[in-house]
Amino acid sequence: MIDFASYKKIVNESLEDYLPKKVGEAKRLYESMGYSLLSGGKRLRGSMLLFSAGYCGLEIKDALPFACALEMIHAYSLIHDDLPVMDNDDLRRGKPTNHKVYGDAMALLAGDALLNQAFEVMAQEGAKLSGDRAACALRAIAYISKCSGASGMIAGQVADMKDFEPNEQRLLYIEENKTAKLFMAALAGGAYLAGAPEEITAAFEKYAYNYGLAFQITDDILDETGDEALIGKPIKSDEKNNKLTAVKLFGLDGARQHAVKAVNEAVFALEGMKGTKALCDLALSMADRKF
Ligand code: IPE
Ligand code: IPE
Ligand code: MG
Ligand code: MG
Ligand code: MG
Repeated sequence: MIDFASYKKIVNESLEDYLPKKVGEAKRLYESMGYSLLSGGKRLRGSMLLFSAGYCGLEIKDALPFACALEMIHAYSLIHDDLPVMDNDDLRRGKPTNHKVYGDAMALLAGDALLNQAFEVMAQEGAKLSGDRAACALRAIAYISKCSGASGMIAGQVADMKDFEPNEQRLLYIEENKTAKLFMAALAGGAYLAGAPEEITAAFEKYAYNYGLAFQITDDILDETGDEALIGKPIKSDEKNNKLTAVKLFGLDGARQHAVKAVNEAVFALEGMKGTKALCDLALSMADRKF
């Protein structure tokens, strides 16, 4: 088992291989896709997928296309999230947002193309397999698709855009769907890919759900208190857009308490599972997150 810094490096070194070459009629589209996908980021989702698949016995090379595909889905969600019709933000990963460089239409299309590219990469990889391995890949693709789509991340984004009733149930729905679902796609998706036993997949799913809640609460806190130079995106975006966030509902201290509770739940989900220290440490480092 290797550490998360190493997983991040592996993902960073591989992503470009899965993108179209920047030539031909659609060159600017490919540049726009690369601009957002290859622009840094913590690579948490791709790294978690590698961890989970590896934990369940798969070699890194067999999980890597899926890890990169998940980072493409995440990058597309960020491009669309920043658009003027959504959060209308100008800075992402320390650089002008995709639509600021390529225009709204190209940003929309680059997001669409990254989403398609992700499923092309995963399906092509699955098509190389046969028997049980192929069935596992299909199960992983179906699960990742569900987490990303109309009953996952996109449902969360839709709820996030609506006028809200400021209550805890509503906030939880938003956090679970817009954010936790892609972490579930990473950890349970990696387990499905490796054909892991049900109880391991379920434990990873539970960890990821709680990690995701803590992650979004911390993102909301950083939107209020963070350093723009470190987080690489504009602060006070949520206030500008009148979003329902953990900070809005519970105040800063209350939000911090909710994050700690979710981190503890995440760690608890892995109780008794040897070899999961790296994941536990990742969750426990949440309180120190500066970006
Ligand atoms: C940003 O995710 C979107 C949220 C769910 C808050 P990350 O904070 O993981 O973004 P990158 O990939 O590191 O830029
Ligand atoms: C969006 O949440 C999560 C996504 C699905 C992209 P935010 O709108 O809070 O994410 P940031 O703060 O812009 O990264
Ligand atoms: Mg948003
Ligand atoms: Mg946003
Ligand atoms: Mg945010």
